[in-house]
Amino acid sequence: MTARVTPNPLRDDRRWPVPPVAVGEFHHRMPAYSPTLLLDAPDLAERLGIGRILVKAETRRLGLPSFKILGASWATYRAICAHLGYEPEPWGNINELAANLAHLRPFTLATATDGNHGRAVAFMARLLGFQARIFVPAGMASPRIEAMQREGAVVTVVDGDYDDAVARSAEQAGDRCLVVSDTSWPGYETIPAQVIEGYSTIFHEIDDALDASGLAQPDLVVVPMGVGAFMAAAVSHYRCGGPSPVIAGVEPLDANCVEASALAGTITHVPGPHRSIMVGLNCGRPSMIAWPRLASGIDWFVAVDDDAARLAMRELADAAVVAGETGGASLAGLQALLVDPDARASLSALSEKTALVIVTEGATDPAAYERIVGRRHETVGRVLTAMR
Ligand SMILES: Cc1ncc(COP(=O)(O)O)c(C=O)c1O
Repeated sequence: MTARVTPNPLRDDRRWPVPPVAVGEFHHRMPAYSPTLLLDAPDLAERLGIGRILVKAETRRLGLPSFKILGASWATYRAICAHLGYEPEPWGNINELAANLAHLRPFTLATATDGNHGRAVAFMARLLGFQARIFVPAGMASPRIEAMQREGAVVTVVDGDYDDAVARSAEQAGDRCLVVSDTSWPGYETIPAQVIEGYSTIFHEIDDALDASGLAQPDLVVVPMGVGAFMAAAVSHYRCGGPSPVIAGVEPLDANCVEASALAGTITHVPGPHRSIMVGLNCGRPSMIAWPRLASGIDWFVAVDDDAARLAMRELADAAVVAGETGGASLAGLQALLVDPDARASLSALSEKTALVIVTEGATDPAAYERIVGRRHETVGRVLTAMR
């Protein structure tokens, strides 16, 4: 396994504003909302030589196998409010919201995706009675495409990488089509900022779970990075003036656009093809609006290879957590960080420290999961007893 651990030369002490409380209130009105689990993984902690490892398992969220629906749902809602010029209140559940928006139909939501964000946008479109047009990079595994088609989306495979898919999706904007992208570009900033706000619910849930169990805030937080929108949410939460843990961002070795940008001192493109199995992280350019928070708030960049992700998936399965390939990235990053002499030295007294690992997806490609982990995802965490 190969990994690279690099301190962030741009780190500063800037404080960032917290997102509006309306985000959490919105998510509570989504169907089947409930906080995802925060799990203690004592065996993993012992093996890695750290006091405690907490795993936030974003493996099933609002009925989908990744955290992305939190950003996609809130940003879709805000984009529709902006399109209407008013809030479509009152509504208490998604069916009532869909009824209040029925006059907009036919109406389309469009986006580009590596998989999870597009599926979340397609899911939102279906709930609201809209259509979805999703653009994906060439070579995307068919189970991921089929999952979006099952939500009713029209999926277009673009002859190019994720950045080419983003460019194609941006062309769709019009009177009857909203582009709900999780990355940003000049002139397209509000909706991706709301995607970032949407992810804040995860961190509030973590705080609530820690309070409820009488546990202190983590000393180290490990977050996977594609375009860095999710990391921007982590930085907003942990660099707002309250507890300020060490933050590590994890990328694939050949899609290390956030690390490369920090080392260059400015947003930098890392050309593809990006072929990591951690497909959610196969991005060549950080999101423009996420970038200031990434530059200022991250302490360590960790670049890992696919073998490390596979190993982490197996270890998480042993800890009863179903993590897909991208979902394994955080633990893979933590492992690399904890064997790096400089990172170890800066963290110090590891046996007294708590690391928070965010597992951002479940088994988004069940056949691949079974190949890598050696068992079906449905059996993970189940104790099977022989029937007499
Ligand atoms: C499962 C998963 N984890 C992490 C990420 C990275 O999020 P971001 O692109 O906001 O950095 C993605 C992005 O698609 C993802 O699908």
